[in-house]
Amino acid sequence: MSSSPNEPLSFDDFDEVVSPRPEETDFDRIVEAAVRRRGFLGGALAFGSFALLGGTLVPGTAKAASDRFAFKQIPANTDDAVTVPDGYNVDVMVRWGDPLWSNGAEFDHATRGTAGSQATAFGDNIDGMEVYAIGDKMVLVANNEYTNRKIIWGNREEGKSANDDDVNKGKMAHGISIVEIRPENGKWTIVKDSQLNRRITPDTEMELTGPAAGHDLLKTAADPTGKKSMGTWNNCGNGSTPWGTYLTCEENFNGYFSAADENHEVSPELNRYGISSKDWGYGWAQVDERFDVSKHPNEPNRAGYVVEIDPRDPNSTPKKRTALGRFKHENAEAVVNNDGRVVVYMGDDERGEFLYRFVSDGVFAPGGPTEGLLNEGTISVAKFYPNGTGEWLELTPETTGMANKAEICVHTRQAGSAVGATTMDRPEWVTSNPNTAEIYCALTNNKNRGIKPNAGGDPTPVGGPNPREANNYGQIVRWRPKDGDHTSKDFTWDLFVLAGNPTVHQDANKGSDNVNADNMFNSPDGLKFDSNGILWIQTDGNYSNAEGFAGHGNNQMLAGDPVTGEIRRFLVGPKECEVTGMTWSPDLRTMFVGIQHPGERGESHWPEGGDAVPRSAVIAITRKDGGPMG
Ligand code: FEO
Ligand code: CA
Ligand code: CA
Repeated sequence: MSSSPNEPLSFDDFDEVVSPRPEETDFDRIVEAAVRRRGFLGGALAFGSFALLGGTLVPGTAKAASDRFAFKQIPANTDDAVTVPDGYNVDVMVRWGDPLWSNGAEFDHATRGTAGSQATAFGDNIDGMEVYAIGDKMVLVANNEYTNRKIIWGNREEGKSANDDDVNKGKMAHGISIVEIRPENGKWTIVKDSQLNRRITPDTEMELTGPAAGHDLLKTAADPTGKKSMGTWNNCGNGSTPWGTYLTCEENFNGYFSAADENHEVSPELNRYGISSKDWGYGWAQVDERFDVSKHPNEPNRAGYVVEIDPRDPNSTPKKRTALGRFKHENAEAVVNNDGRVVVYMGDDERGEFLYRFVSDGVFAPGGPTEGLLNEGTISVAKFYPNGTGEWLELTPETTGMANKAEICVHTRQAGSAVGATTMDRPEWVTSNPNTAEIYCALTNNKNRGIKPNAGGDPTPVGGPNPREANNYGQIVRWRPKDGDHTSKDFTWDLFVLAGNPTVHQDANKGSDNVNADNMFNSPDGLKFDSNGILWIQTDGNYSNAEGFAGHGNNQMLAGDPVTGEIRRFLVGPKECEVTGMTWSPDLRTMFVGIQHPGERGESHWPEGGDAVPRSAVIAITRKDGGPMG
C-alpha cells in the first residue's frame, strides 16, 4: 500500500502523527557519523562496487543476459492502462466486487455495493496471491489488503461512510478471496458457485496456535481462552508452504483500532505497534466494539501474525501462527533447508523495523505431519555488519530478558530491539532464489533514515544495507547463508540494486550501475523469483513523474537477472495504482499480477474506462506464441 485511506498521509506518516515517535538524540548523530566515516556505502554494492566485499559473484549457469529475458524493455508511461511488451496479451480476470456466487449482485458503479453484496464478492485492493492445483481444478487465493475511502465510499460526500452498512461494506472488502479459475475460450475466468470458493473476512473464526496461544495477553471478553480470534485484515504479501497451504500476512493491522474517548492513552507495548485512540478512517469500532482499544486492550495482540489457510477445504479453520512473531508482516518466504527443517524469512514493513527468520524444530517430509512445523521453532532477527557479513540473533528469554516465548511472540518488535537488530529501510517482500541458497528483500524507502529513530527509539544510522540518508528510492538487499545452510547463524550480504534517478542526480541518488535512464524506478516492494531464477520486481512508489521521480512514470514491474544484475521493465500499471502480488498457472504459461488501488487520488477509471469506478483487479498475462511466462 502506498498511502493510507486518509490521503495524502502515508501509513507510516499517519502512525507518526497520531502516536509520535521518539526524537533523534545526540547519541544517534554520533552513531550515524561513525558509520558515515567508513565510507559512503559502508557495506557492499553488488554491481560496480562489488570489490568492496572481497567476495565473488554468485556462480551461475545462466545464459548470456540477452537470452535471459524473453521480452524487449518497454518505456515508462503515465497511461491509464496496463502496458506490456509486444508479443504479450493482458486480460482482466477478476475485479473488486465481482460476485463469487451466482446469487450475488454484479458490481454497481452507482452505489459500489453494500455490506451484503461485498460479503460474497471478490474483496478490494488485491495484494499477495497464489494459484493452487487441487485435483483437476485450479484455485486462486488472493489477499484483499485494505480499502481507500474515496473509492469504496466515493458515492458519499467527501468519501466518508454515511452509515453502518457503509462501514461494514468496507470491512467485508478486507480479508482473503478464494475462487476457482479456469480458461474458457482462450481467457481466464472465475468459476462461480465452485465448492472451493470462499471469502475469509475480519469476522471469520480463526485458531491462535503456537507459543502465545492461551497466554493472558491474548485473552479478551469474547474469548477468555486466548485461543480463538475473529478474522484477519490488512493482509499484505503472502507465502506458500511446501505442503500446499497458503500463508497470509497481517501488516498494518493497527489502523483499525480506536477509542471512544480520544484522550485514551494506550500502553507503550501497543504504542510500539502504532495502536492509538484514532483509527485510519475505517470506523470499525462504530460497528464492532472489539476494535475499541479502551474497552478491549488485548484485541490488538490477536492481530499482526502470519495465518495459514488450507485452500483444499473451504470449511477449515485458518490458523494464526504466533511462532512466526507479531509485527507488520509483509510476506513469508518458506524454504525447506537441506536437512528438511522449514525456514521462513519475513520482513516488518515500517521505517526502521527488522528482518526476521523462523526455523522449525521439526522436519518436513512429503506426506508426513505438518501441523507442528510452524508452531515449534526459533525466531531470530537480522544483524548486518558494514563489511558484508551478518548474523541471525535468536530471540529467547535469555537474549531478550523477556519472561517467556509467548511474550516474545506477541512483543516481537521489542524483542528485536532488545538484541540490537539492524533497523532497516522498510523490509517488504522476501524471496528465495531457486538456483542457489540466496535470499532477496526489497527495502522500499525510508525518509527517516539517518534522521529519526524507529518507533522503539532504536537509532537508524546510515550505512550497511541502508546506505542513503532520507532514502526516497529504495534498494534490494540479498544474502547468502553460510555453507548454503538456511539455519546457519552467519551470512554474507550485498545490494542487488540501489534504485534512483540518474537523469536528475549525480550523487548516490542516481542509483547503482544497473539503473539507467531507460529502466529506472523507485520503491521496490513485491519480489518473487520465477522457476527459471528471474527476479520479478514490483513497485509501490512515487508516481508523480516529476522532480526526483521524473521519467519513472506509473508504478511498474521489472525483471532482474541475479547473475548479471541487468534489470528490464516489463509492465507499467494504470494511473495511481501499485503493482503487487504475482503467481503463475500450474503450466507456467500464465502470469497473474495484482493491480492495487488504481485511481487512489481520483485520476483513474481502469479497468473499465469511461466514467467507471476504478477497481483493483487480477490480470492474466500470456505470450501470444503460447510460450512459458516463468
Ligand atoms: Fe502492504 Fe508493505 O506493503
Ligand atoms: Ca509498499
Ligand atoms: Ca507491499
